[in-house]
Formats: sequence, structure tokens, C-alpha cells
Amino acid sequence: MIEKQYNDIGGGSPIRKWSEYQCSEMCKILDQISPQTAPHKPYVAFRYANPLTEEMYNRLLEDGFGNGKGGRAIAFTQYPQYSCSTTGSSLNELWKWRHRLEGKGAKGNGDGSITWSVIDRWPVHPGLVEAFAQNIEAKLAEYPEERRRDVVLLFSAHSLPMSVVNRGDPYPAEVAATVHAVMKRLGHTNPYRLCWQSQVGPSAWLGPQTSDTVENYIKKGKKDLVLIPIAFTSDHIETLYELDLEVIGESGHADTVKRADSLNGSPVFIKALADVAKEHLGSGQACSQQMGLRCPACKSEKCAEQKKFFAGQQAQLSAL
Ligand code: FES
Repeated sequence: MIEKQYNDIGGGSPIRKWSEYQCSEMCKILDQISPQTAPHKPYVAFRYANPLTEEMYNRLLEDGFGNGKGGRAIAFTQYPQYSCSTTGSSLNELWKWRHRLEGKGAKGNGDGSITWSVIDRWPVHPGLVEAFAQNIEAKLAEYPEERRRDVVLLFSAHSLPMSVVNRGDPYPAEVAATVHAVMKRLGHTNPYRLCWQSQVGPSAWLGPQTSDTVENYIKKGKKDLVLIPIAFTSDHIETLYELDLEVIGESGHADTVKRADSLNGSPVFIKALADVAKEHLGSGQACSQQMGLRCPACKSEKCAEQKKFFAGQQAQLSAL
């Protein structure tokens, strides 16, 4: 089924293409705005697609980082809002490969391993907010002026199982923070709701579902709707297939139900990435304070070890 979905969106997910583009363009800007830390070299890794973390880590080592030669790397999550099921899981994977390929934990300053720091969340960065707002304004401009202010903005984020939400995952609050910041930047011109997509299986998931939300508003006579993917920074199956072909395509109102463009190659967004990285480099922090706090109901040893490892990088970082 997933193969058919990829065929329907043109033969594959563009996420790798966009991630590599965003990352390399960001590094070019970073070389200019942060010359003291240049040159910056881009590496991309995915949790469940190629290149996997193992491949990326091996490339780092082949390129002369670590292995007794030291070097500095930043793990920059491309999920603006933190969830233990996305960023947390990716960091667990990174910690695992660091452990396998470079030995366990930081052995102290000067051990020649890579010094890591983490940009673990950036949900309300002004550049991110501006990039979202500009794409929403461009979409709103497609509606006739007399209808524009009544268009409902539907922010859509990937849902989470309620078991994850109830464990105390920070994601729903951080997604809501992004939505609020974007609405504030827009001047609260339009009514809006946050809804959640991509639920699978029979267990309970955080709602309301995006598809139900669109259907219910149409039934209530609200047919001018703009969907905004607020937790993805580039197009992939959830936008191109799920939102465009399923939700909008099957709504019966594809002329008035629209989707704001994903951030993809937005220069405002790529500049924001560079600004986030520059601020992080300037902060001298290994990771945010917030990352050190585990979910109240977390029982995962992996989470505990991962957080300990990245927080422990502070000593190596401060010694550089
Ligand atoms: Fe959130 Fe482990 S599940 S810290």
C-alpha cells in the first residue's frame, strides 16, 4: 500500500532531497554568519530511511572526525517540536551508534572522540514562525478578498498514541506553542484549530483527526479551509499523499480546501535554520535544560542513558 502511495506522489518521498538541500544551504549561510566556527559540513541521517544513523556516523569517522582526532558535531533535529517518539528516538539511535563506534560515553577531555551537542527543539524560533506565516499568507491570498478573513486555518501535525501523550511527552504542548506563535505573527486574522493526522491501528490517538475535522467543518458549511502542516519542515507522504490526495482530494471541495506550501526550499526557513545553529554554537550548551527531564512515566533505560550521555558532553564542550 505504501508503495502505491509513493507511486501516486511521483515515485518516492522527496524528504531526502529536501533535507540534503536545506542542510547544505544552511551550512553555506552559517559559514558567512559564523566564520569563527567555519567551515561547516552537512550530514543528513534518518531514523527509518537511508542514510541511517550508522551510515552517517561511519561517514563522519571516514571524513576524519573522531577516532582519536576529536572534532565537533551538532545533532540538529529537523522536528521543530520535541517528541520522545521522533527526536528522542533519533537521539537514542545516535547515542547507540556513538557507543558502538566510538566507545561508551565521554571518556573525559581529549579522548579524541567526537564532541556532540544537540539542538533538541526550536518550536517558536522567529525565523521558523515567519516562514510558516509567509506560506499561510500566500495561500490566503488565493481566496477572494471578501472571504479571506473567514477562511479557517487548520494546523495539522502528526498524531501520537494516547499512551505516549499520557506518559508525559512534550510534543502536544510544543506544537501548540508553534501554532500560537504563528497566529500571533499573523495578527490573529483568522479563526483556527489544531488537528492531528496519520493515526494507525485501533488504539486511542490524540485527536481530533485532520480528516474528520475537514469533513465536519464542511458539514457545518465552512468550506474555505487552509491546511497547514505545522510539524513537518518538508514535503513527504503525510503532506503529498495524506493531505493533498486523501483529505483534500476526497473532500469534494478541492477548489476551496487548500494546503499551505511546506517549507521545503523557503529561503526564510533556511536562513532560520542557520540562525538556530548560530545561536546554539554561541550558547556553548550541550543541549537544552528541558532535554534533561525525562517524561514522568518513562521507564526506558535507553532514554536515561542517552540523556546522561548528551548532558555529559558539556564537560568536553566547555574544554574545547
Ligand atoms: Fe520520554 Fe523516555 S519516553 S524520556
